[in-house]
Amino acid sequence: MRALVLREDSFGIEEVELPQPQPGEARVRLLAAALNRRDEWIRQGKYARIRYPAILGSDGCGVVDAVGSPDHAAWLHKTVIINPSLGWGDNPRAQALTYEILGMPRPGTLAEYVVVPVDRLHEKPAHLSAEAAAALPLAGLTAYRALFTQGALQAGQKVLITGIGGGVAVIALQFAVAAGANVFVTSGSDEKLQRAQHLGALGGVNYRHPNWDRLLRELADGEFDLVLDSAGGEPFNTLLTLTKPGGTLVCYGATLGPVPEFHLARVFWRQLRIIGSTMGTDEEFRAMLEFVSHHRIVPLIDSVVPFSEVLSAFERLRSEAHMGKIVVRFA
Ligand SMILES: NC(=O)c1ccc[n+]([C@@H]2O[C@H](COP(=O)([O-])OP(=O)(O)OC[C@H]3O[C@@H](n4cnc5c(N)ncnc54)[C@H](OP(=O)(O)O)[C@@H]3O)[C@@H](O)[C@H]2O)c1
Repeated sequence: MRALVLREDSFGIEEVELPQPQPGEARVRLLAAALNRRDEWIRQGKYARIRYPAILGSDGCGVVDAVGSPDHAAWLHKTVIINPSLGWGDNPRAQALTYEILGMPRPGTLAEYVVVPVDRLHEKPAHLSAEAAAALPLAGLTAYRALFTQGALQAGQKVLITGIGGGVAVIALQFAVAAGANVFVTSGSDEKLQRAQHLGALGGVNYRHPNWDRLLRELADGEFDLVLDSAGGEPFNTLLTLTKPGGTLVCYGATLGPVPEFHLARVFWRQLRIIGSTMGTDEEFRAMLEFVSHHRIVPLIDSVVPFSEVLSAFERLRSEAHMGKIVVRFA
């Protein structure tokens, strides 16, 4: 089969051996996969415990073409999406030390076939195309836990989602709007701010503007009950002042790196809850799929490229010109 293989000194499509499912596993012939920032972090060598060679890719939708034991034969020929969380463990508050995300070290979905434990399979939501379904798992799970479990979002609350071009941010916007929240956003692109309004955001501000926080406060008529951020860096100090006293700031990433001169006093004086969030439990994955089916949410797709052009998809992710998910299709 063809797979995108990352080696210490190369990154490209190679012919590799077709993986065989063991008992308890299934093999999926991929119809579509999607990129995440994680894939690019690993490609750049900026991820913990990278093991080479690696087949990246956490998101995928495909057809089950083989199972490792006959008692799982009912999955054969079904169109499925894959929960990329492996081994969360028993504690819903945090993942086990042995937790893994599909796509390094376990071979991932940027290949014609992937083998996963059968309990990672879910039937594709009926209203989604294979490409839209492939765009959902990692971003949808991260957004669901961040908003509803960690952020305890309620209808009518005022929410800020930063960097709305991001794959997680945009699905979080779609979820929060469906849940009846009043959502505002930031972006480095005015065009993305406009597009966010078409998805139901009430307004947005360009974070490149020197007074972006004042503009945002004016636009939203004050501070936010809940702020969702994955940028981190210096702007995080400003987000502390944009969160209502007693409000919640959920962070699920640090694209800009650590927060310099963290303003701790703003945290205790404003009685803030700062909560970290990563991916989610199996229960949250199931709840996310139900939410998506119930509200007939279709993840925003930025672009679709054939697998033969997967390297151009990585370039687009790096450029941050995208809005929503970058999908790879297997003809
Ligand atoms: N903890 C988890 O489970 C988890 C899961 C998924 C992702 N993440 C992390 O979350 C981050 C985003 O991932 P992703 O896949 O959604 O991202 P992505 O699609 O690669 O997008 C990154 C986005 O970051 C935004 N950004 C850049 N500079 C910013 C700034 N100064 N302020 C606010 N936003 C800024 C940009 O938004 P605009 O284009 O709108 O400017 C850009 O589109 C990454 O750090 C990733 O590693 C964590």
